Amino acid sequence: MKHFLKETDFARSELPKLFALARELKRTRGQRGAPKPLAGQTWAMIFSKSSTRTRVSFEVGIHELGGNPLFLNKNDIQLGRGETVEDTARVLSRFVHGLVVRTFDHGEVERLASFGSVPVINALTDFLHPCQIFTDAFTMTERWAKNAQTATGAKLVESLRGRKIAFLGDTACNMANSWILGANLFGMKISLAGPKEFAPSAAFQAQLAKEKFSGKATGGDFQFTTDPYEAVRGADVVYTDVWVSMGKEEETKERIRVMLPYVVTGKLFAAAKQDALFMHCLPAHAGEEVMQEVLENPRSIIFDQAENRLHMQKAILATLAAAAR
Ligand code: CP
Ligand code: NVA
Repeated sequence: MKHFLKETDFARSELPKLFALARELKRTRGQRGAPKPLAGQTWAMIFSKSSTRTRVSFEVGIHELGGNPLFLNKNDIQLGRGETVEDTARVLSRFVHGLVVRTFDHGEVERLASFGSVPVINALTDFLHPCQIFTDAFTMTERWAKNAQTATGAKLVESLRGRKIAFLGDTACNMANSWILGANLFGMKISLAGPKEFAPSAAFQAQLAKEKFSGKATGGDFQFTTDPYEAVRGADVVYTDVWVSMGKEEETKERIRVMLPYVVTGKLFAAAKQDALFMHCLPAHAGEEVMQEVLENPRSIIFDQAENRLHMQKAILATLAAAAR
């Protein structure tokens, strides 16, 4: 059973086909005769956290692929009253064809995958947000690949190789972890800048050392610095995320205090490459982790990222559904 719990659940060799499929689904959206690989299927979406982009793009995407999305707030099902994850996985597998799960503990998506018998997609945990990273990488290829509309999938993916991403702010959050995994998978360089108490965690680094990026365990490379200007030097992308991730609200005051030097200002963005892109998974807090002028900069591609969630996730859904047949 193929799942998508972390970036490395796709091998490098599988990426060209996936990216080309996302581009095809984007190009043909709404056309008559569009493929319906989820026809007759129901996919449950179990969400324990808020969501705008992920929820809507998955609901619309499953519907457009011919399937039926079944949204389940964790508190509306017995999982919220103490039924185990293991039993939930085994019961839901008797009814539905796949699970899309947003939760806190990453172990929960792993247990749903191992106890259930349908594909599971990680729609964000405290640890990782792989749907966002694959979407972001696809969005970069639209800008970087020569003839991006007609190039082969291999050329799309190749356009990522050697590019540098600078990730600023909370460098221990799910987005930072996921971008480290993604950068290594895509052959990109990644430099992270944040307060030293928010450096990538030891637990994450231990996980990273076990990851396979090209068929063999190679660990993963990244640079961490407390100097935001050092991180953005030579960067092709300046990326940030909220400073207070879902579930961390009690730490708001302290997080804002220590992360202040990492605001993406116009000046900091200008210190990256001249043609650097600004990216953010959204939601953004203008005036906190990034200034409005950067969000509105012509090289900010935040809404392309948001739109592409739909197309990339449809490609992921179709790939997992085909593998489950
Ligand atoms: N970027 C992202 O996952 O947004 P939502 O929290 O709105 O789903
Ligand atoms: N790090 C953020 C990402 C939101 C899409 C969070 O977990 O809240």
